[in-house]
Amino acid sequence: MMLESDRNPFLQGNFGPIRSEDEFPELRVEGEIPRELNGTYYRNGPNPAFEPKGRYHWFDGDGMIHAVTLGDGKARYRNRYVMSKGLAVEMAAGRAVYGGILDIGKEMTEAPQFKNTGNTNIVVHAGKLLALMEGALPTQLQVGTLATLGEYDFAGKLQTAMTAHPKMDPETGEMLFFGYAPFPPYLTYHVADQSGRLVRSEVIDIAWPSMIHDFVTTRDHVIFILCPLVFDVQNIPTKGTPFTWEPERGTRIGVMPRNGGNADVKWYDTEASYVFHPMNAYEDRSQLVIEVARFGKMVFMDPAEQQKPQGPEVNPRLHRWTIDLTRGGVKSEPLDDGIAEFPRVADACVGLKHRYGYMAGARAQTSGTPEFSAVYKYDRQTGRREAHDFGSGCGCGEAVFVPKRLTGAEDEGYLMTFVYDAARNRSDLVILDAQHVADAPIARIEIPRRVPYGFHGNWVAAG
Ligand SMILES: [Fe+2]
Repeated sequence: MMLESDRNPFLQGNFGPIRSEDEFPELRVEGEIPRELNGTYYRNGPNPAFEPKGRYHWFDGDGMIHAVTLGDGKARYRNRYVMSKGLAVEMAAGRAVYGGILDIGKEMTEAPQFKNTGNTNIVVHAGKLLALMEGALPTQLQVGTLATLGEYDFAGKLQTAMTAHPKMDPETGEMLFFGYAPFPPYLTYHVADQSGRLVRSEVIDIAWPSMIHDFVTTRDHVIFILCPLVFDVQNIPTKGTPFTWEPERGTRIGVMPRNGGNADVKWYDTEASYVFHPMNAYEDRSQLVIEVARFGKMVFMDPAEQQKPQGPEVNPRLHRWTIDLTRGGVKSEPLDDGIAEFPRVADACVGLKHRYGYMAGARAQTSGTPEFSAVYKYDRQTGRREAHDFGSGCGCGEAVFVPKRLTGAEDEGYLMTFVYDAARNRSDLVILDAQHVADAPIARIEIPRRVPYGFHGNWVAAG
């Protein structure tokens, strides 16, 4: 019998899982780890513990955290599963029990329930280390050991799922986030204050239910990007899937004042797009500037469509939407031809005007597996893009910016990403100088194993 892992590219090469939890106390380093780097880089990603029972999607795998702790110029590594209740059931059974998102239609009747894999992002807020996935509650992990403490519901106050992309307001310390669902309420906005208390939950009316992976916030606004990837459980009986790409709907950008509510949301229409990840947004007088990694067409939720020949619109590129808040209207402009995803800015710039943005760049890409081989740095002042290409046979992921010091220039710091080298079947944590991205890395921290391609990470300074 052919197994899913024999044919699914997301279970092969460096997309494939590793199956052990390890600790490597002192890693070999080529170059030098800057002394001021004192903290931990955490990265989350899907890592199915068992052969899938049905069709596997990259978003399905059990969460696995890879953590590299730096201090005194030394590095240590640890990886742990996010030990969800569902994964514990499967560990006890010795096999996969839960189905994936491509089989949601079937699984509505056959599966015991949904598995909260916690596989997408990992953040710290108010001292809590949270593994996140958008379909469920956060999972709290123990700082240091990465042991799973359990689902975290903000003392019973969080009544919806939580996005994997909360925004940490660098000025107020608040964590702004939302939850969405393929059934009502489709979208709910939440605010946790600086101390981690959930202080606000507000249902937002949207024109159709959609897979809303991320959002963007500014000093004064909250922005929801409603794309025509409809996600509706009511479609399952007729269409066999809750996901449908319906470009005729266009894209609606909902802008809510931070001090307002659902009744104050203004919607602005633009062309059909899918956005997993905005880079950032900010106010510029009466304008709202939103930069995103934009897909012109979303085939990622449809394996049959993915296998057909597709045009360049299925690949993500950096794009800007500028909304005139007084006169209305959206100016829509591509910023670069390069294929790039996983946009980030410095944490200190989230919601504020940024000059620099960072993305994972791909040489060429089709609708198949997303493989990134470069770190791109965009300078919005000069309009230039610089690149650090890791070379053939090497793949990277999202690059996280780590500042050198609190009051430094916006790009004074480092970029970190895991880089997989197929020739060695190993990964390194590579540290680049963010002001000289194209230069040789400052340090290559050798992990004595490969680290599968994953989703998102963050740097958490010690103390
Ligand atoms: Fe994401």
